[in-house]
Amino acid sequence: MTTPSPLTQDELKALVGKAALQYVVPGAIVGVGTGSTVNHFIDALAGMKDQIRGAVSSSVASTERLKALGIPVFDANEVESLAVYIDGADEIDGHGCMVKGGGAALTREKIVAALASRFVCIVDESKLVPALGRFPLPVEVIPMAAQHIARRFAALGGTARMRLRDGQPLVTDNGQHILDVTGLSITDPLGFESQVNQWPGVVTVGVFAHQKASVGLVGTTQGVVKTF
Ligand code: 5RP
Repeated sequence: MTTPSPLTQDELKALVGKAALQYVVPGAIVGVGTGSTVNHFIDALAGMKDQIRGAVSSSVASTERLKALGIPVFDANEVESLAVYIDGADEIDGHGCMVKGGGAALTREKIVAALASRFVCIVDESKLVPALGRFPLPVEVIPMAAQHIARRFAALGGTARMRLRDGQPLVTDNGQHILDVTGLSITDPLGFESQVNQWPGVVTVGVFAHQKASVGLVGTTQGVVKTF
C-alpha cells in the first residue's frame, strides 16, 4: 500500500477556506479579509452568493476578486455592524492573538474586523505559534515617520526594514508604507499593540490582540480543526 502524499500548504488553505462557509450568516453582509487563504474562501463564497447580501472587503485585491465572482461589495461606511469577519493570519497564538499584514492590508483588515461581532481566523497549521514574534511584524506607517519609528523599534531590540516592491517602498491601498520588524519578543500582545499604536506616524501595528480571533479554524493534514 502506498501512503497518501501529504497535502500542500495551498491545499490546506483551500480546505480551511471552504470550511469557513459554515460561519457565513445567510441574508447578511460578510466581512472579508485578504490573502491567499481568503482567496480560497472568496472562491467558495461565490457558490452561495445568492444567499448573502454581499461583502465588505479589506483590500483592493479582495474587492476585485469578489466583484469578478459577482459578489456585491459594500463600502464599510454603508454598514453599522457585521455578524462575521473572515480572514487569515501570518501567525496566531493559542489565545487568538495574531500577527497580520503580510499582504499589506492590515489597516483595512483592522477596520473591517472592528465592525464584526465575530472574527473567524482561517489558517493552515504552519501559522500556529506558542507566542507571537516569529513572523516579521508588519507596521503601516506615514512615510515621513518611518525612520523615527524604526529607531523606536531598535530601542525595543527590533530591526525594522522598509518593505519594497520593485526596488521602491511598497505603497499600501492607503498610500502609506510598511515596516517589517524582526527580533521582537511579543510577550504581552495587548500591551504591545497599545504601546506601538501611540507612536506618532504609526497608522496600524500588525498585532491583532484588541481584536483577536473569536474562532480559530486550522487546516491540518488530518482535516480542519477548530482550535477555539
Ligand atoms: C494580509 C494578511 C493575511 O491574512 C496574512 O498575510 C495571511 O496571508 P495568507 O493567507 O496568504 O497566508 O494579514 O494583510
